[in-house]
Amino acid sequence: MQPLRFTGRTLEVLDQTQLPEHEIWETCDTYEGVAEAIEKMKVRGAPAIGATAAYGIAIGAQQGSELSKAEFLPFLAGVCERLAKTRPTAVNLFWAIKRMRGLIEANAELEVAQLTELILAEANLIAEEDVRLNKQMGQHGLPYIPDNARILTHCNTGSLATVDYGTALGVIRAAHEAGKNVTVYADETRPYLQGARLTAFELHRDNIPVTVVTDSMAGYLMQQGMVDLVIVGADRITANGDAANKIGTYSLAVLAKHHGIPFYVAAPMSTVDYELETGASIEIEQRSADEVVFIGGKRMAPEGVPALHPAFDVTPHELITAIITDRGAVERPDTDRMAKLK
Ligand code: MRU
Repeated sequence: MQPLRFTGRTLEVLDQTQLPEHEIWETCDTYEGVAEAIEKMKVRGAPAIGATAAYGIAIGAQQGSELSKAEFLPFLAGVCERLAKTRPTAVNLFWAIKRMRGLIEANAELEVAQLTELILAEANLIAEEDVRLNKQMGQHGLPYIPDNARILTHCNTGSLATVDYGTALGVIRAAHEAGKNVTVYADETRPYLQGARLTAFELHRDNIPVTVVTDSMAGYLMQQGMVDLVIVGADRITANGDAANKIGTYSLAVLAKHHGIPFYVAAPMSTVDYELETGASIEIEQRSADEVVFIGGKRMAPEGVPALHPAFDVTPHELITAIITDRGAVERPDTDRMAKLK
């Protein structure tokens, strides 16, 4: 179950807002269409939006193929700027755009058609690498998943949030593939319900036992001794190991600490932002209050009452048992230990 299909000229995006009820593939044939698919969360998850942005630049390059060389480079700069404005928190988006910009700058002397070919190839490479790195991460995570583990996870960090395989769900998948008996509690993940709609959908399809719980049940489950470990993904990890992830992750980390339960974060190196020292500098996306107030099109709170919708929170590194990356795991992460991964 992959979220993206690049046809060479267009990007097909599996509309995740419609899952699990409908499997609708939307065709994006302009970079603006790609940007809107990210903004509207038809495609979401940090690594997936990085790869999507790279394909958005490839589509933009094709749209600009009739331009003169002098016009082409500023046009591409505009494409990159538009895609960079879609969502602020997941650094993978900016990582992918920076990588594509670097490629464009290094090959600026090429003709439009040749540069477009290179851009296309680089977008494909980013997508291919993502899958390979996720599988590596899965192997690095294996030692942390004991046989018979009962695992609590939050949001969706699987194939749908990446190009394939997943980050935290990738580690769970790797344990399952290694023959370990694992069962998963999927937080429903209010307000967007990535856990109930997407994680449950993916795991159920792959025959990995999964039970949906509401976010507010996590403390109860831990108190009852029903959780052996928590594993989540990340949208941005700073130089000291603080990790931004879906709203509600921080509460889970505090609860896990209180109950002496290991709390793991799994993310590729493209999620690590060494330019920010601590999580306090991470921009947290503020989304529409309507996404909180309306459920299935029905208003749940009285009209006129405001609602908040920070889409992410930051878990301080002190609460993280280990950060698992494609380069290996960092136990008790801090600035020094994170620097060794660089
Ligand atoms: O708002 P979303 O659905 O894009 O948020 C996704 C998450 O928070 C994931 O946990 C994170 O991107 C890691 S995905 C591999």
